[in-house]
Amino acid sequence: MCGIVGYLGNKNAVPVIVNGLRRLEYRGYDSAGIAVLNGKLSLVKCKGKVSDLEAKMNNSIEEASIGIGHTRWATHGEPNDTNAHPHTSNSGDLVLIHNGIIENYSSIKKALTQRGYVFHSDTDTEVLVNLIEDVMKSEGVHLAKAVRIALNQVIGAYAIAVIDQNNSDQIVVAKKGSPLVVGVGEGEYFIASDATPFLEFTKKAIYLEDDEMAIINRGQEIEVLSIPDNRTIDPYVHQLEMDLASIEKGGYDHFMLKEIYEQPKSIGDTLRGRLLPEQGLIQMDGVYQFQEKLLNAQRIIIIGCGTSWHAGLVAEYIFEELARIPVEVEYASEFRYRNPVITERDVVIAISQSGETADTLAAIKLAKERGATIFGICNVVGSSIARETHAGAYTHAGPEIGVASTKAFTAQVAVLNLIAIKLAHKKGLLKESYYHRLLNELNEIPRKIEDMLKSDAQSRYIAELYKDAPNFLYLGRGYNFPVALEGALKLKEISYIHAEGYPAAEMKHGPIALIDENMPVVVIAPKSGQYDKIVSNIQEVKAREGKVIAIVNDGDSEIAKMADHVIEVKDTMEVFSPLLTTIPLQLLSYHIAVMRGCNVDQPRNLAKSVTVE
Ligand code: F6R
Repeated sequence: MCGIVGYLGNKNAVPVIVNGLRRLEYRGYDSAGIAVLNGKLSLVKCKGKVSDLEAKMNNSIEEASIGIGHTRWATHGEPNDTNAHPHTSNSGDLVLIHNGIIENYSSIKKALTQRGYVFHSDTDTEVLVNLIEDVMKSEGVHLAKAVRIALNQVIGAYAIAVIDQNNSDQIVVAKKGSPLVVGVGEGEYFIASDATPFLEFTKKAIYLEDDEMAIINRGQEIEVLSIPDNRTIDPYVHQLEMDLASIEKGGYDHFMLKEIYEQPKSIGDTLRGRLLPEQGLIQMDGVYQFQEKLLNAQRIIIIGCGTSWHAGLVAEYIFEELARIPVEVEYASEFRYRNPVITERDVVIAISQSGETADTLAAIKLAKERGATIFGICNVVGSSIARETHAGAYTHAGPEIGVASTKAFTAQVAVLNLIAIKLAHKKGLLKESYYHRLLNELNEIPRKIEDMLKSDAQSRYIAELYKDAPNFLYLGRGYNFPVALEGALKLKEISYIHAEGYPAAEMKHGPIALIDENMPVVVIAPKSGQYDKIVSNIQEVKAREGKVIAIVNDGDSEIAKMADHVIEVKDTMEVFSPLLTTIPLQLLSYHIAVMRGCNVDQPRNLAKSVTVE
């Protein structure tokens, strides 16, 4: 979490940095700051959002051709003006921004304090900038060398950028565990946590790898070095394909709404070129490279966090049903710390929108050490997880900027469907007619979502009725149990209403005690093998006067008679139903959050990319 931006070139760095910070605000938004050099150091920082920073700057910063900026998600020290980045060293010469955590900061701080250093903030970052200064002074070395020596003493994760007041021609950056990309323009360089801050200026980008640093000097070629051994590295320059429109709101009030409405397109993009129903084919290069491993897997272990973990749970049903491969779905954060039993015949599928989630990345590294083969499903091209896995498939959902994941989830489920169907077919488990039905029906999903999105009047109406409820319960069975979890997560994270997701049958083992006339219960009940069972669950809720909001198939008159409200979704095969039932739940949470006056795109305490454990 935290976003970092920097600029060195011929333009005025100030608007480049401020605009860049706005684009990175999804990574953290509890404080922000900027530092530029224009003969002297100008530094402004404050608690709050980038808009608060701009208000504080009040055009007071003069033009400068070098600078750095930061938007923070607090790890060490509460969000306040002092803890905001950039941080300066004791002499005031060095200025540093940091995304990550320095785990051994307290022992370094102790040693520096004994050497006379004074600390003003509670951050680990202030310790790092002073450590670099101390190395420069005690060893008489220049900034880049001091950064390298200091980082070799540091345990933890970082993406940093450092400037020296006495040198307005250089930025030194380094990366381990947190993302850092350098945009290479004509006579100018941009640095950022992802490529969005510089998309309109250059499409050339160098993604630093862990344990790499770069020395960026005005008018010179960038120099990339390995931090442990000072080896020179020839950087690979990527050509970015993303365009500016994909990271703008395009007329919608919020990114989340835009991303909900983009789902026909994003799922279409996920399937494009891979799902070929007319030829009866699923073509996926990543799966092809990995096919034998997957076909012979004695077990698939799926790891992820949050919404990506929910996509994994949907996949558990799909893989077991279609491909008959046993699946375990694990929170990456638990998996990495519980000494898991992994064998060479296990395949690990890691799911992550951002491709940067620290727990998922660490779980991948652990599974790799133990001999497992890792398949990644990521949305962000070139992300750390995409690079760490043996093979994989991108979701191609396009940039997801709203902090609450929407289109990335459905794209993940779509990719997982493709893989499961492909494996099941290869294993000879699907009758040809059923296989073709699966391909055709999956191909229809974007169009069905488009039809469903033509009106959101019903979810808006229901939102109005229940926006003040303190609690919600979400129930689903089978493929739609993970959808219940996802619906509850979406509601709580953006509206701050407490919500729980449960397998519908589990209700009577505890949660039923919560049900009274004030409890809205969202029941995901499309036609499925367990339809009659879920009808009984609805009756159990109604018998306790709970308010039932049922997600049903078009024209379902049976549930309509007993539920307080229904939201209809298109019919599809059961295996694909999460792709449709998720949509009204996203809209319901969105409308409730907007009606409650919440900041939908930047909910409190959250960040889009969780690069700390
Ligand atoms: C919820 C949400 C989070 C993420 C989780 C994992 O809307 O977005 O729960 O799903 O932080 O993030 P990724 O998928 O980037 O690994």
